[in-house]
Amino acid sequence: MKDFAGKICFISGGASGAGLGQAKVFGRAGMRVAIADVRENALDNAVEELVAFGIKREDILALKVDLTNREEYTAAADKVEEVFGGPPHLLIQTAGVNSFGPIEASTFDDFDWVMGVCLNHVVNGLIIFVPRMIKAYAHKTEFHVAATSSAGAFMAGAVCGPYSASKAAVNNLMYSYAEALKPYGAGATVLCPGNINSNIGNAEKFRPEHLKDTGYHVSEGTMMHLRSIHATGIDPVELAEILKEGIENERVIVLPDHNPDGRAAELRRHNEIIEDYTLTRAQREAKTQKRMEDMKKAFAAESKEERAPMWAVPEGAEAYGKARKDLVWIDSSKRK
Ligand code: NAI
Repeated sequence: MKDFAGKICFISGGASGAGLGQAKVFGRAGMRVAIADVRENALDNAVEELVAFGIKREDILALKVDLTNREEYTAAADKVEEVFGGPPHLLIQTAGVNSFGPIEASTFDDFDWVMGVCLNHVVNGLIIFVPRMIKAYAHKTEFHVAATSSAGAFMAGAVCGPYSASKAAVNNLMYSYAEALKPYGAGATVLCPGNINSNIGNAEKFRPEHLKDTGYHVSEGTMMHLRSIHATGIDPVELAEILKEGIENERVIVLPDHNPDGRAAELRRHNEIIEDYTLTRAQREAKTQKRMEDMKKAFAAESKEERAPMWAVPEGAEAYGKARKDLVWIDSSKRK
Protein backbone atom coordinates (compact mmCIF):
# COMPACT_ATOMS: atom_id res chain seq x y z
CA MET A 1 0.00 0.00 0.00
CA LYS A 2 1.57 3.27 -1.12
CA ASP A 3 -1.20 5.86 -1.14
CA PHE A 4 -2.55 6.83 2.24
CA ALA A 5 -4.09 10.27 1.69
CA GLY A 6 -7.87 10.44 2.12
CA LYS A 7 -8.07 6.80 3.21
CA ILE A 8 -9.23 5.33 6.52
CA CYS A 9 -6.98 3.81 9.17
CA PHE A 10 -8.13 1.89 12.26
CA ILE A 11 -5.60 1.57 15.07
CA SER A 12 -6.27 -0.62 18.09
CA GLY A 13 -4.54 0.58 21.25
CA GLY A 14 -4.29 3.97 19.56
CA ALA A 15 -4.49 6.02 22.77
CA SER A 16 -0.92 5.38 23.89
CA GLY A 17 2.63 4.37 23.00
CA ALA A 18 3.15 2.60 19.68
CA GLY A 19 -0.50 2.96 18.62
CA LEU A 20 -0.51 6.72 19.24
CA GLY A 21 2.74 7.02 17.26
CA GLN A 22 1.03 5.19 14.40
CA ALA A 23 -2.00 7.52 14.57
CA LYS A 24 0.37 10.49 14.28
CA VAL A 25 2.33 9.09 11.34
CA PHE A 26 -0.62 7.78 9.31
CA GLY A 27 -2.66 10.88 10.20
CA ARG A 28 0.20 13.05 8.95
CA ALA A 29 0.16 10.95 5.75
CA GLY A 30 -3.41 12.23 5.21
CA MET A 31 -5.43 9.31 6.58
CA ARG A 32 -8.54 9.65 8.68
CA VAL A 33 -7.66 7.77 11.85
CA ALA A 34 -9.93 5.82 14.17
CA ILE A 35 -8.20 5.08 17.47
CA ALA A 36 -9.76 2.39 19.65
CA ASP A 37 -8.76 1.89 23.25
CA VAL A 38 -10.21 0.70 26.53
CA ARG A 39 -8.99 3.73 28.52
CA GLU A 40 -11.27 6.74 28.05
CA ASN A 41 -8.96 9.34 29.66
CA ALA A 42 -6.06 8.16 27.55
CA LEU A 43 -8.26 8.52 24.44
CA ASP A 44 -9.19 12.10 25.36
CA ASN A 45 -5.51 12.98 25.87
CA ALA A 46 -4.55 11.22 22.65
CA VAL A 47 -7.03 13.26 20.62
CA GLU A 48 -5.54 16.49 21.99
CA GLU A 49 -2.01 15.20 21.28
CA LEU A 50 -2.98 14.33 17.70
CA VAL A 51 -4.52 17.76 17.15
CA ALA A 52 -1.37 19.40 18.56
CA PHE A 53 0.64 17.19 16.17
CA GLY A 54 -1.28 18.74 13.27
CA ILE A 55 -4.04 16.18 12.58
CA LYS A 56 -7.44 17.77 11.93
CA ARG A 57 -9.97 17.02 14.67
CA GLU A 58 -12.57 15.93 12.10
CA ASP A 59 -10.12 13.33 10.80
CA ILE A 60 -9.91 11.65 14.22
CA LEU A 61 -12.46 9.21 15.63
CA ALA A 62 -11.87 8.05 19.20
CA LEU A 63 -13.64 4.85 20.22
CA LYS A 64 -13.79 3.55 23.78
CA VAL A 65 -13.88 -0.21 23.40
CA ASP A 66 -12.67 -3.36 25.10
CA LEU A 67 -11.30 -5.07 22.01
CA THR A 68 -11.47 -8.50 23.63
CA ASN A 69 -15.26 -8.14 23.63
CA ARG A 70 -16.52 -9.15 20.19
CA GLU A 71 -19.83 -7.29 20.42
CA GLU A 72 -18.08 -4.07 21.44
CA TYR A 73 -15.45 -4.51 18.72
CA THR A 74 -18.15 -5.09 16.08
CA ALA A 75 -20.03 -1.98 17.24
CA ALA A 76 -16.78 0.02 16.92
CA ALA A 77 -16.30 -1.26 13.36
CA ASP A 78 -19.89 -0.22 12.53
CA LYS A 79 -19.18 3.24 13.96
CA VAL A 80 -16.12 3.67 11.73
CA GLU A 81 -18.24 2.91 8.65
CA GLU A 82 -20.98 5.26 9.84
CA VAL A 83 -18.64 8.19 10.55
CA PHE A 84 -15.94 7.73 7.88
CA GLY A 85 -18.18 6.19 5.19
CA GLY A 86 -16.45 2.81 4.88
CA PRO A 87 -14.29 0.19 6.58
CA PRO A 88 -10.60 0.92 7.08
CA HIS A 89 -8.18 0.63 4.16
CA LEU A 90 -5.46 0.09 6.73
CA LEU A 91 -6.09 -1.96 9.86
CA ILE A 92 -3.31 -1.80 12.48
CA GLN A 93 -3.85 -3.89 15.58
CA THR A 94 -1.46 -2.67 18.23
CA ALA A 95 -3.25 -2.92 21.59
CA GLY A 96 -1.31 -5.05 24.04
CA VAL A 97 -0.51 -5.66 27.68
CA ASN A 98 2.26 -7.49 29.48
CA SER A 99 2.62 -9.29 32.76
CA PHE A 100 5.68 -11.22 33.82
CA GLY A 101 6.34 -14.06 36.24
CA PRO A 102 7.46 -17.69 36.23
CA ILE A 103 5.30 -19.50 33.70
CA GLU A 104 4.66 -22.33 36.17
CA ALA A 105 3.07 -19.78 38.54
CA SER A 106 0.63 -18.52 35.86
CA THR A 107 -3.08 -18.64 36.55
CA PHE A 108 -5.90 -18.88 34.03
CA ASP A 109 -6.40 -15.14 34.58
CA ASP A 110 -2.77 -14.43 33.60
CA PHE A 111 -3.19 -16.35 30.34
CA ASP A 112 -6.70 -15.05 29.67
CA TRP A 113 -5.72 -11.41 30.14
CA VAL A 114 -2.43 -11.40 28.22
CA MET A 115 -3.52 -13.71 25.43
CA GLY A 116 -6.97 -12.11 25.35
CA VAL A 117 -5.52 -8.70 24.52
CA CYS A 118 -2.32 -9.63 22.67
CA LEU A 119 -3.73 -12.45 20.53
CA ASN A 120 -7.52 -12.70 20.70
CA HIS A 121 -8.19 -9.05 19.95
CA VAL A 122 -6.08 -9.41 16.81
CA VAL A 123 -8.18 -12.42 15.77
CA ASN A 124 -11.37 -10.47 16.56
CA GLY A 125 -10.29 -7.53 14.42
CA LEU A 126 -9.27 -9.71 11.49
CA ILE A 127 -12.58 -11.59 11.55
CA ILE A 128 -14.62 -8.41 11.93
CA PHE A 129 -12.78 -6.23 9.40
CA VAL A 130 -11.19 -8.39 6.68
CA PRO A 131 -14.47 -9.47 5.00
CA ARG A 132 -15.67 -5.85 5.07
CA MET A 133 -12.35 -4.67 3.59
CA ILE A 134 -12.41 -7.28 0.81
CA LYS A 135 -16.02 -6.47 -0.11
CA ALA A 136 -15.36 -2.73 -0.19
CA TYR A 137 -11.90 -2.54 -1.74
CA ALA A 138 -10.68 -5.73 -3.48
CA HIS A 139 -9.27 -4.93 -6.94
CA LYS A 140 -10.52 -1.34 -6.63
CA THR A 141 -8.16 0.28 -4.21
CA GLU A 142 -5.22 -0.60 -2.00
CA PHE A 143 -5.83 -2.05 1.46
CA HIS A 144 -3.62 -3.67 4.07
CA VAL A 145 -3.70 -5.32 7.49
CA ALA A 146 -0.96 -4.94 10.09
CA ALA A 147 -0.35 -5.96 13.68
CA THR A 148 2.17 -4.96 16.30
CA SER A 149 3.79 -8.10 17.61
CA SER A 150 7.19 -8.18 19.32
CA ALA A 151 10.74 -9.47 19.03
CA GLY A 152 9.37 -11.78 21.77
CA ALA A 153 7.59 -13.64 18.96
CA PHE A 154 10.91 -15.22 18.01
CA MET A 155 12.03 -16.27 21.47
CA ALA A 156 10.78 -17.69 24.72
CA GLY A 157 11.54 -16.91 28.31
CA ALA A 158 10.79 -18.46 31.67
CA VAL A 159 8.97 -15.33 32.84
CA CYS A 160 7.13 -14.17 29.73
CA GLY A 161 5.32 -17.33 28.58
CA PRO A 162 1.80 -16.03 27.82
CA TYR A 163 3.19 -12.86 26.19
CA SER A 164 5.70 -14.61 23.91
CA ALA A 165 3.20 -17.35 23.02
CA SER A 166 0.62 -14.75 22.00
CA LYS A 167 3.14 -12.81 19.91
CA ALA A 168 4.43 -15.95 18.15
CA ALA A 169 0.82 -16.77 17.27
CA VAL A 170 0.20 -13.22 15.98
CA ASN A 171 3.23 -13.50 13.71
CA ASN A 172 2.10 -16.81 12.28
CA LEU A 173 -1.40 -15.48 11.77
CA MET A 174 -0.12 -12.48 9.87
CA TYR A 175 2.02 -14.69 7.58
CA SER A 176 -1.22 -16.54 6.73
CA TYR A 177 -3.06 -13.31 5.97
CA ALA A 178 -0.17 -12.08 3.83
CA GLU A 179 -0.65 -15.14 1.60
CA ALA A 180 -4.44 -15.12 1.77
CA LEU A 181 -4.87 -11.46 0.82
CA LYS A 182 -2.63 -11.57 -2.27
CA PRO A 183 -5.45 -12.49 -4.71
CA TYR A 184 -7.39 -9.44 -3.53
CA GLY A 185 -4.45 -7.15 -4.20
CA ALA A 186 -3.78 -6.58 -0.50
CA GLY A 187 -1.02 -7.38 1.96
CA ALA A 188 -0.21 -8.01 5.62
CA THR A 189 2.61 -6.80 7.83
CA VAL A 190 3.69 -7.69 11.34
CA LEU A 191 5.85 -5.26 13.30
CA CYS A 192 8.28 -6.88 15.75
CA PRO A 193 9.93 -4.25 17.95
CA GLY A 194 12.27 -4.98 20.85
CA ASN A 195 11.66 -2.10 23.24
CA ILE A 196 9.35 0.90 22.88
CA ASN A 197 9.22 4.06 24.95
CA SER A 198 5.58 3.58 25.91
CA ASN A 199 3.27 3.16 28.89
CA ILE A 200 3.14 -0.63 28.85
CA GLY A 201 5.07 -0.74 32.14
CA ASN A 202 1.84 0.43 33.79
CA ALA A 203 -0.38 -2.19 32.13
CA GLU A 204 -1.02 -4.05 35.42
CA LYS A 205 -2.78 -0.94 36.78
CA PHE A 206 -5.51 -1.44 34.20
CA ARG A 207 -5.92 -5.22 34.48
CA PRO A 208 -9.70 -5.88 34.53
CA GLU A 209 -11.23 -6.83 37.89
CA HIS A 210 -12.45 -10.23 36.66
CA LEU A 211 -8.89 -11.24 35.62
CA LYS A 212 -7.02 -10.09 38.70
CA ASP A 213 -6.09 -13.49 40.15
CA THR A 214 -2.41 -13.50 39.22
CA GLY A 215 0.33 -15.94 40.22
CA TYR A 216 2.96 -13.25 39.73
CA HIS A 217 4.41 -10.79 42.21
CA VAL A 218 3.21 -7.40 40.99
CA SER A 219 3.85 -4.17 42.84
CA GLU A 220 4.51 -0.47 42.27
CA GLY A 221 8.22 -1.47 42.46
CA THR A 222 8.01 -4.08 39.69
CA MET A 223 6.14 -1.61 37.49
CA MET A 224 8.87 0.95 38.19
CA HIS A 225 11.48 -1.56 36.99
CA LEU A 226 9.51 -2.13 33.78
CA ARG A 227 9.01 1.60 33.23
CA SER A 228 12.77 2.16 33.57
CA ILE A 229 13.42 -0.41 30.83
CA HIS A 230 10.78 0.97 28.46
CA ALA A 231 12.06 4.52 28.97
CA THR A 232 15.12 3.45 26.94
CA GLY A 233 12.99 2.13 24.04
CA ILE A 234 12.47 3.46 20.52
CA ASP A 235 10.31 6.56 20.07
CA PRO A 236 6.79 5.55 18.91
CA VAL A 237 6.76 8.03 15.99
CA GLU A 238 10.12 6.77 14.75
CA LEU A 239 8.82 3.21 15.06
CA ALA A 240 5.64 4.09 13.14
CA GLU A 241 7.74 5.56 10.31
CA ILE A 242 9.59 2.23 10.10
CA LEU A 243 6.24 0.42 9.94
CA LYS A 244 5.03 2.78 7.21
CA GLU A 245 8.09 2.00 5.09
CA GLY A 246 7.38 -1.71 5.64
CA ILE A 247 3.75 -1.37 4.54
CA GLU A 248 4.74 0.71 1.49
CA ASN A 249 7.18 -1.98 0.43
CA GLU A 250 4.96 -4.91 1.39
CA ARG A 251 7.34 -6.39 3.94
CA VAL A 252 5.62 -9.17 5.86
CA ILE A 253 7.89 -8.82 8.90
CA VAL A 254 9.13 -5.41 9.96
CA LEU A 255 12.07 -5.84 12.30
CA PRO A 256 13.38 -2.52 13.58
CA ASP A 257 17.10 -2.87 14.21
CA HIS A 258 17.57 -3.15 17.91
CA ASN A 259 20.72 -5.16 17.52
CA PRO A 260 23.62 -2.70 17.25
CA ASP A 261 24.98 -4.75 14.33
CA GLY A 262 21.79 -4.34 12.34
CA ARG A 263 18.98 -6.45 11.00
CA ALA A 264 21.11 -9.29 9.65
CA ALA A 265 22.61 -9.82 13.11
CA GLU A 266 19.16 -9.64 14.66
CA LEU A 267 17.86 -12.32 12.27
CA ARG A 268 20.91 -14.50 12.94
CA ARG A 269 20.19 -14.22 16.64
CA HIS A 270 16.57 -15.31 16.17
CA ASN A 271 17.63 -18.26 14.03
CA GLU A 272 20.23 -19.19 16.60
CA ILE A 273 17.61 -19.27 19.34
CA ILE A 274 15.63 -21.84 17.36
CA GLU A 275 18.79 -23.82 16.59
CA ASP A 276 19.69 -23.80 20.29
CA TYR A 277 16.52 -25.71 21.11
CA THR A 278 17.74 -28.57 18.92
CA LEU A 279 20.94 -28.91 21.00
CA THR A 280 21.42 -31.07 24.07
CA ARG A 281 20.82 -29.31 27.35
CA ALA A 282 24.54 -29.18 28.17
CA GLN A 283 25.43 -27.73 24.76
CA ARG A 284 22.62 -25.20 24.99
CA GLU A 285 23.52 -24.02 28.48
CA ALA A 286 27.19 -23.59 27.60
CA LYS A 287 26.22 -21.54 24.55
CA THR A 288 23.77 -19.40 26.50
CA GLN A 289 26.35 -18.68 29.17
CA LYS A 290 28.92 -17.65 26.57
CA ARG A 291 26.38 -15.42 24.83
CA MET A 292 25.51 -13.68 28.11
CA GLU A 293 29.20 -13.11 28.86
CA ASP A 294 29.83 -11.72 25.37
CA MET A 295 26.80 -9.43 25.73
CA LYS A 296 28.05 -8.08 29.05
CA LYS A 297 31.56 -7.53 27.62
CA ALA A 298 30.14 -5.78 24.55
CA PHE A 299 28.01 -3.59 26.78
CA ALA A 300 30.97 -2.69 29.01
CA ALA A 301 33.19 -1.91 25.98
CA GLU A 302 30.47 0.18 24.33
CA SER A 303 29.55 2.34 27.34
CA LYS A 304 31.77 5.36 27.37
CA GLU A 305 30.28 6.83 30.48
CA GLU A 306 29.51 5.01 33.71
CA ARG A 307 25.91 3.92 33.43
CA ALA A 308 23.86 0.97 34.58
CA PRO A 309 22.73 -1.55 31.95
CA MET A 310 19.16 -1.18 30.68
CA TRP A 311 18.03 -4.21 32.71
CA ALA A 312 19.45 -2.97 36.06
CA VAL A 313 16.89 -2.53 38.81
CA PRO A 314 16.71 1.18 39.71
CA GLU A 315 16.81 2.33 43.31
CA GLY A 316 13.44 1.95 44.99
CA ALA A 317 12.24 -0.55 42.37
CA GLU A 318 11.83 -4.34 42.56
CA ALA A 319 12.92 -6.84 39.92
CA TYR A 320 9.91 -7.97 37.90
CA GLY A 321 9.38 -11.60 36.97
CA LYS A 322 8.94 -13.29 40.38
CA ALA A 323 6.06 -15.42 41.64
CA ARG A 324 3.70 -14.52 44.46
CA LYS A 325 5.37 -15.31 47.77
CA ASP A 326 2.57 -17.57 49.04
CA LEU A 327 3.14 -20.04 46.18
CA VAL A 328 5.49 -22.09 48.35
CA TRP A 329 5.88 -24.92 45.82
CA ILE A 330 7.63 -22.53 43.39
CA ASP A 331 11.46 -22.64 43.52
CA SER A 332 12.40 -20.11 46.21
CA SER A 333 14.76 -18.19 43.88
CA LYS A 334 11.74 -17.51 41.65
CA ARG A 335 9.57 -16.25 44.49
CA LYS A 336 9.30 -12.76 45.92
P1 NAI B 1 0.93 1.09 25.79
O1 NAI B 1 0.45 0.60 27.11
O2 NAI B 1 1.55 2.44 25.76
O3 NAI B 1 -0.26 1.01 24.74
C1 NAI B 1 -1.10 -0.10 24.66
C2 NAI B 1 -2.55 0.34 24.61
O4 NAI B 1 -3.40 -0.82 24.49
C3 NAI B 1 -2.98 1.08 25.88
O5 NAI B 1 -3.44 2.37 25.59
C4 NAI B 1 -4.08 0.20 26.45
O6 NAI B 1 -5.11 0.90 27.11
C5 NAI B 1 -4.59 -0.53 25.21
N1 NAI B 1 -5.34 -1.74 25.59
C6 NAI B 1 -4.98 -2.69 26.47
N2 NAI B 1 -5.96 -3.60 26.60
C7 NAI B 1 -6.98 -3.21 25.77
C8 NAI B 1 -8.25 -3.73 25.48
N3 NAI B 1 -8.71 -4.85 26.05
N4 NAI B 1 -9.02 -3.08 24.58
C9 NAI B 1 -8.58 -1.92 24.02
N5 NAI B 1 -7.37 -1.39 24.26
C10 NAI B 1 -6.58 -2.02 25.13
O7 NAI B 1 1.96 0.00 25.28
P2 NAI B 1 2.83 -0.15 23.93
O8 NAI B 1 4.16 -0.57 24.36
O9 NAI B 1 2.66 1.01 23.07
O10 NAI B 1 2.15 -1.42 23.29
C11 NAI B 1 1.72 -1.48 21.93
C12 NAI B 1 2.08 -2.85 21.37
O11 NAI B 1 3.48 -2.95 21.26
C13 NAI B 1 1.62 -4.01 22.24
O12 NAI B 1 1.04 -5.00 21.42
C14 NAI B 1 2.91 -4.52 22.85
O13 NAI B 1 2.85 -5.88 23.17
C15 NAI B 1 3.87 -4.23 21.72
N6 NAI B 1 5.28 -4.18 22.10
C16 NAI B 1 5.70 -3.34 23.09
C17 NAI B 1 7.04 -3.27 23.41
C18 NAI B 1 7.55 -2.33 24.44
O14 NAI B 1 8.75 -2.37 24.75
N7 NAI B 1 6.74 -1.43 24.98
C19 NAI B 1 8.04 -4.12 22.72
C20 NAI B 1 7.48 -4.96 21.69
C21 NAI B 1 6.16 -4.98 21.41
